[in-house]
Amino acid sequence: MKENLFIALEGIDGSGKSTQARLLNKNLSDKGLKTYLSSEPTDHEIGKLIRDIFNHKTDAEQHSIAALFVADRLQHILNHKNGLLQKIKEGNTLICDRYYFSSYAYHSVFVDMDWVIGMNKICAELIKPDITVFIDVTPEICMERIRAKRESLEMYETLQNLINVRRNYFTAFEKLSSTEHITVIDGNRPETVIAEEILSVISNLQSKRK
Ligand code: ADP
Ligand code: TYD
Repeated sequence: MKENLFIALEGIDGSGKSTQARLLNKNLSDKGLKTYLSSEPTDHEIGKLIRDIFNHKTDAEQHSIAALFVADRLQHILNHKNGLLQKIKEGNTLICDRYYFSSYAYHSVFVDMDWVIGMNKICAELIKPDITVFIDVTPEICMERIRAKRESLEMYETLQNLINVRRNYFTAFEKLSSTEHITVIDGNRPETVIAEEILSVISNLQSKRK
């Protein structure tokens, strides 16, 4: 059984995913593991198009946006240079800042969740996270953090949307509880405390795999 894990970090905007992805990457590297940190949307052209939509430079219909994320994800998984499949084969522990649960939670505010799950089926078949860690922070706190950090807000960054997205995450977790391994972490705490808890969850999983 493989020992290098695929860890997906999830949460609403401003929940501290990027911070925790960086800390987890450092903590696992310090333990001597070979790691690979990546995020979605990617830096590929498809990811750039998505960011242009979010920054209001261009617009697109919600099904099209969800489909663009599937294309971006397939690029993330399959590209021969630094795709997830290649990286896991090389023995890396993968840490991914957002994966398909982001699609289930964000797009189902506008389109049917089962359609989004169906669209992503190929991704789940190609590579499924060994664990999805959801960093749970109240939408109000996330909005405060986002406002403190930036002058302009992206398309999905309104309080009501964050409330909807958080609710959808939990709906998706329930829907897929029999096939996905999900852990919810209280993210309304200091960064280092959260990082320690995530590290301990991952260490437990690693020791079960040995
Ligand atoms: P995300 O990637 O989920 O959008 P970030 O990691 O970029 O979140 O964090 C959003 C903001 O919140 C940043 O300014 C970051 O410094 C701050 N932040 C992250 N984690 C915490 C925490 N546990 N407590 C308080 N502020 C935090
Ligand atoms: P990200 O850069 O991670 O934003 P943040 O750091 O603020 O959390 O992601 C940008 C946006 O993309 C974010 O609002 C969530 C959205 N998103 C989707 O709508 N669907 C997806 O499949 C993914 C991966 C992200």
